Amino acid sequence: MTTYKELGLVNSKELFQKAVKGGYAIPAFNFNNLEQLQAIIGACVETKSPVILQVSSGARKYANQTLLKHLAKGAVDYAHELGYDIPIVLHLDHGDTFELCKSCVESGFSSVMIDGSHHPYEKNVELTHQVVEYAHKHDVSVEGELGVLAGIEDEVSSETTHYTKPEEVEDFVKKTGVDSLAISIGTSHGANKFTPAQCTRNEDGVLVPPPLRFDILEECEKRIPGFPIVLHGASSVPSNLVKIINSNGGKLKDAVGIPEEQLRRAAASAVCKVNIDSDGRLAMTAAIRKTFMESPAEFDPRKYLGPARDSLKELYKHKIVNVLGSANRA
Ligand code: G3H
Ligand code: 13P
Ligand code: ZN
Repeated sequence: MTTYKELGLVNSKELFQKAVKGGYAIPAFNFNNLEQLQAIIGACVETKSPVILQVSSGARKYANQTLLKHLAKGAVDYAHELGYDIPIVLHLDHGDTFELCKSCVESGFSSVMIDGSHHPYEKNVELTHQVVEYAHKHDVSVEGELGVLAGIEDEVSSETTHYTKPEEVEDFVKKTGVDSLAISIGTSHGANKFTPAQCTRNEDGVLVPPPLRFDILEECEKRIPGFPIVLHGASSVPSNLVKIINSNGGKLKDAVGIPEEQLRRAAASAVCKVNIDSDGRLAMTAAIRKTFMESPAEFDPRKYLGPARDSLKELYKHKIVNVLGSANRA
């Protein structure tokens, strides 16, 4: 057993309390490789932001759990070396079984998500409670989920959104003992969050997605005042990145995300954790495709992963400063 404290990590409890009070959200950036980790830590140290390093079960398999533990410890030391000790959480994204959550707690994660949202309500309560009981013995935070986002969540996908039912949140939080709750208010995973039929078009012909259901968020907040709420599927799918990808051989069709003004509004509420994965994937892919087109003779991975890392870092800094408001909160 490796405890997260041995790695120099923190759980999310205090970070969330401060974020809810301060009207900002902590960035939860997914990662599975060295360049992404360097970009995340570099951006968060430069902006003095707390951060949640988020690992899906697929990412854990990809990166290897032993390496991940050392990468997380390395992230803490790297931040120190860069000159500022930011609080760092290592979080399991969309855990689907008790065994996976337990294994992550045992290998140094300071926070886990148990996503029972695809189960019937009572089963979700039971599974989430089981994880909370175990995780809390080790001072590890637990995120639960109510409502289902459209799009792909790791190996599980849903074609339609099932909005969170506000009348369930109080009972769920009470019965499970979770530390934070992911809700579904119209965000969605991936780079194709909405079909063109669900969108309108602005005067430039650009797809405009349906607005988030702030009424559901407000109803939830009323029933569990001050309780930390999490937003998944919060990438904005920047059109400039999609353009770079498509003009350098890519084929992303109808990619559309959540407008940043709406995320800013959510971050000012009880939403204190915002999950961003797809935007990072787009930033990396755009930079790599551009390098390949401009320098086809290049074959040193550092020559294309380096620009990808720089582009990622800029993206993360932008999110922290202009969208989530977590700069200078570390
Ligand atoms: O919510 C899903 C995350 O974007 C993780 O995606 O399972 O492909 O690593 P992944
Ligand atoms: P995006 O696909 O919108 O980046 O969402 C990521 C996410 O919710 C990870 O859990
Ligand atoms: Zn998610």
